[in-house]
Amino acid sequence: MSDWRVPGFTSTGSKRPDALFGADLDAGLPTRMTRAAGCRVWDAAGREYLDYVMALGAVALGYGHPDVNRAAERAIDAGVTGPLAPVLEEELADALAMRIPWLERVRFLKTGAEAVAAAVRLARVATGRERVLGCGYHGWLDWAQGGEGVPAGTKALYAEIPFNDVDGTRRLIREAGDRLAVVVVEPVVVIEPTRDWLEVLRAETTRVGAVLVFDEIKTAFRVAIGGAAERYGVRPDLAVLGKAIANGFPLAVVGGRADLMAGVARTWISSTLATESVALAAAQATLEIFAHEDVCGHLHRMGTRLLHGLHRLHRKHADVVTGVGGIAEMCFFTLRAKTFRAMWRGGVQHGGSCSSARRTILCRWRMMKRQSIARWSYWAKCSRRS
Ligand SMILES: Cc1ncc(COP(=O)(O)O)c(C=O)c1O
Repeated sequence: MSDWRVPGFTSTGSKRPDALFGADLDAGLPTRMTRAAGCRVWDAAGREYLDYVMALGAVALGYGHPDVNRAAERAIDAGVTGPLAPVLEEELADALAMRIPWLERVRFLKTGAEAVAAAVRLARVATGRERVLGCGYHGWLDWAQGGEGVPAGTKALYAEIPFNDVDGTRRLIREAGDRLAVVVVEPVVVIEPTRDWLEVLRAETTRVGAVLVFDEIKTAFRVAIGGAAERYGVRPDLAVLGKAIANGFPLAVVGGRADLMAGVARTWISSTLATESVALAAAQATLEIFAHEDVCGHLHRMGTRLLHGLHRLHRKHADVVTGVGGIAEMCFFTLRAKTFRAMWRGGVQHGGSCSSARRTILCRWRMMKRQSIARWSYWAKCSRRS
């Protein structure tokens, strides 16, 4: 790790080789990729993989979807960026509001972490309060992080609420009471939320006058275009979208109630390249495809097949496949670490049958040190080239 010119690799920690494969890296393991197309990825040695990771969910249509690429190319030809706000910004905002009516107003940013931080800032502006309750992962920025380098005063303003725990959630929201600015939740964390939990979140935040934010960075453009709010019929005050929204181009959205979004005039939320038009054009094209091709239905059907297959594997090879989890659109299975390594070395395909190393599947896995198991997780994807 210390030998790398890019310490820890620039992107999310989940792409680090040690996070993928454990501390003692074998030379043969893929650490860098050169290209991706459809559902396939090629590593630096030219080996081809069938990819189930889908850029950690940032891609749902398959890598390099031709319609999205064409839209991006047109935006490149049109100069990418400039001194005025692009027309595309308003067009995309309108298109999003047509499909996701609770996005009455939106702002665009480049990363999910920025967009959730903006939602928290807007909630603080609207309520004049500081405390935050969160559930799930919301990015690397200070307000939601507890590690070194985060000021103690910032940490003290943040606490976690337990996913799907109705009583615990109600209690924490009531305890924070009129000091609570905002509750930010990932509405799906490994499993689906219960209706009771979502209703408690909605009712209790309203009761104490706090803002409810759905962090839909993983769920929008996946479980439904409008994410969990659409699937489960619960309206947040603000929502944050990211990842698959532009099929791999960098874009995130914070949006919701017009009165809350009006807070942008009272605070500072800004990024020079937030409206470069390549990602906006890619998002526009992505939304078109989602709207006309029932992508979410396809993801659900394919994901359900995958999940059933994983369960079958678990039943058949319980000594090797130690567990299965997630929802159809984002599922995973856990393997014993030794098995995982043996599979990589042998170039074994998913399902356990041997084949050439050139067609190994690329799955995300994590060493669970205590249990000594590896985790593979899948993002159901929709790829014309698969
Ligand atoms: C639910 C959720 N929120 C926020 C983030 C942070 O997004 P980004 O990595 O684009 O900053 C992620 C990233 O994985 C996420 O899954």
